[in-house]
Amino acid sequence: NKVVLAYSGGLDTSIILKWLQDVYACEVVAFCADLGQGEELEPARAKAEQMGVKEIYIEDLKEEFVRDYVFPMYRANALYEGVYHLGTSIARPLIAKRQIEIANDTGAEAVSHGATGKGNDQVRFEMGYYALRPDIRVIAPWREWDLTSRNKLLAYAEQHGIPVPMDKRGEAPYSMDRNLLHISFEGKALEDPWNEPDEEMYMLSVSPENAPDKPTYVEITFEKGDPVAIDGEKLSPANLLARLNALGGANGVGRLDMVENRYVGMKSRGCYETPGGTILGVAHRAMESLTLDREVAHLKDDLMPRYAKLVYNGYWFAPERVMLQQMIDASQAFVSGVVRVKLYKGNVIVVGRKSDYTLVDERIATFEDDAGAYNQADAGGFIRLNALRMRIASMLRNGPTG
Ligand code: ARG
Ligand code: SIN
Repeated sequence: NKVVLAYSGGLDTSIILKWLQDVYACEVVAFCADLGQGEELEPARAKAEQMGVKEIYIEDLKEEFVRDYVFPMYRANALYEGVYHLGTSIARPLIAKRQIEIANDTGAEAVSHGATGKGNDQVRFEMGYYALRPDIRVIAPWREWDLTSRNKLLAYAEQHGIPVPMDKRGEAPYSMDRNLLHISFEGKALEDPWNEPDEEMYMLSVSPENAPDKPTYVEITFEKGDPVAIDGEKLSPANLLARLNALGGANGVGRLDMVENRYVGMKSRGCYETPGGTILGVAHRAMESLTLDREVAHLKDDLMPRYAKLVYNGYWFAPERVMLQQMIDASQAFVSGVVRVKLYKGNVIVVGRKSDYTLVDERIATFEDDAGAYNQADAGGFIRLNALRMRIASMLRNGPTG
């Protein structure tokens, strides 16, 4: 029997790898996805080989991640609880999908992951597994084993000859999750929502106060709702997001400190850096402001919180998310053009937008004498009819003079 493990090469998933071999006496297939963690993944191969793993999959999924997961989500302008860019939430379905494909290819009947029993990630992984392979067996070591403290974990590692890096011996750092879209920090000193994080915690951005005193201008070209070029230079999805990360990070853009509601029912404090995503979100909205019909835009805004909640709660492969996506994608047919933004000390300020499909008609909106397409006298009846029910109620209750 075989199990495909989502393996990072780090201490926790190395312990899980060993534990699966021991407790389940199974052959472990190690799967290591590069989603832009900014870490060398080849050392993970060596570590897995050392532990006797014969089948090791190390895959660069950055382009697929950005093209098929991140960009569709930005077409929806998705933000969870008004602010969170869903950087971890959107990565889990892709990992789950590849894990199931590898399970199918290698003849494995089980999959395993390193998410704890307290969080959202377990839900996201396993919802993905079950959606794509209904009979899959799921092993979630954190919900099963008795390695419930850092000391027990370290002792297990010593016992089984798993090397523990120096920086993991003492106090564990924050719980972090990094990919091309974001980095998240949770736990430790952050658990008290009143504690401001140390400046040293942040990795992708300078603080707004240390950002340059001069603004940086950036032009983003969109085609059908997706960004395709920066300052006129065509870039692949992953390269484009990486470029925006560098520009945003250098200007202190994209930091977030929030208390969020996890799907399992608890509140938790998290800090995030999403420099490129923050620019993209603002720019995409600006592109839509020029090219989307009012009611289409407002309907998207009504549905956005539900879409975001589906992504957060792990329902990426659920039919209602797919249905919403089809609707959102259909709305993007004319969301093409260029947006110019100014990055300045943590701010993303839109300063220009243009499109061949603009719905702004300057001949009509002008404060100057218009061409006669809009008759101001029409507005009087429009307003009186819209006020009719208020006039009736007022008349019946208070008499004709109010
Ligand atoms: N709270 C965030 C979310 O639910 C981030 C989770 C980070 N996960 C991690 N394994 N460190 O999306
Ligand atoms: C975890 O519990 O593994 C990380 C936090 C989360 O999933 O929300």
